[in-house]
Amino acid sequence: MNVILLGLPGAGKGTQAKSITDHLHVPHISTGDLFRKALKDQTELGLLAKEYMSKGELVPDAVTIGLALQRLNHTDSDRGFLLDGFPRNVVQADALEQYLKSQARHVDHVIYVEVDESILLDRLTGRRVCSGCGASFHMIHNPSAVIDRCDSCNGMLIHREDDQEATVKERLRINKELTDSLTEYYTVKALLRTIDGSQDISVVSKEILDLLTN
Ligand code: AP5
Ligand code: ZN
Repeated sequence: MNVILLGLPGAGKGTQAKSITDHLHVPHISTGDLFRKALKDQTELGLLAKEYMSKGELVPDAVTIGLALQRLNHTDSDRGFLLDGFPRNVVQADALEQYLKSQARHVDHVIYVEVDESILLDRLTGRRVCSGCGASFHMIHNPSAVIDRCDSCNGMLIHREDDQEATVKERLRINKELTDSLTEYYTVKALLRTIDGSQDISVVSKEILDLLTN
């Protein structure tokens, strides 16, 4: 099954990705994670992406599309994929559609995790991310069992540089309009399904899995 998770920064895409991929047995492909990995490895791509990510801006389309399609080309996504954070605008969505079409494939579901912007600032500024496996926690809404340590791999939890309040505000401003254009794009294609992402994490997971399996 080929699935796209759409949502503003902090909507819970990364949080929900784990239960979805565990259930569908498909890879979780997050362009944000790929850029962060490239930066950790100090590659040219990572250093270029950092210039944009640290300001909350989008990495240029040509670079992002190349990276996402290269990842999709791995054989592990032959049986399906969960895309998180890609596409992020209509140019990227068109590129994805063309790529899949060239392989006689298509997107099966687009799930829009909708959360009011007023909630997102608190979610992102309170987020802590595992430096080992990338799992997301929240200091209040989703704390780890041991402070500053990941429940899954015991890695150190860190505060992402782009989760500082000023950068979060800029990310929300930039992504709002783009997300609206994408929800319209996939509504026209009759692929969009909207989930209320302001509910408890377990309720959101259940609603997404119900939608994908029914
Ligand atoms: P990326 O890493 O994709 O960031 P994002 O889209 O801004 O999304 P987030 O990871 O911040 O949020 P999320 O929805 O995954 O929320 P989470 O589950 O962690 O991208 C980073 C940057 O890379 C971009 O700014 C850009 O520069 C670049 N980039 C990436 N893709 C690109 C592209 N396609 N084109 C161009 N540039 C690109 O949850 C957030 C918090 O809320 C956590 O603390 C969590 O515990 C908590 N939480 C989650 N769900 C709930 C709930 N239901 N109730 C209470 N708390 C909850
Ligand atoms: Zn971890």
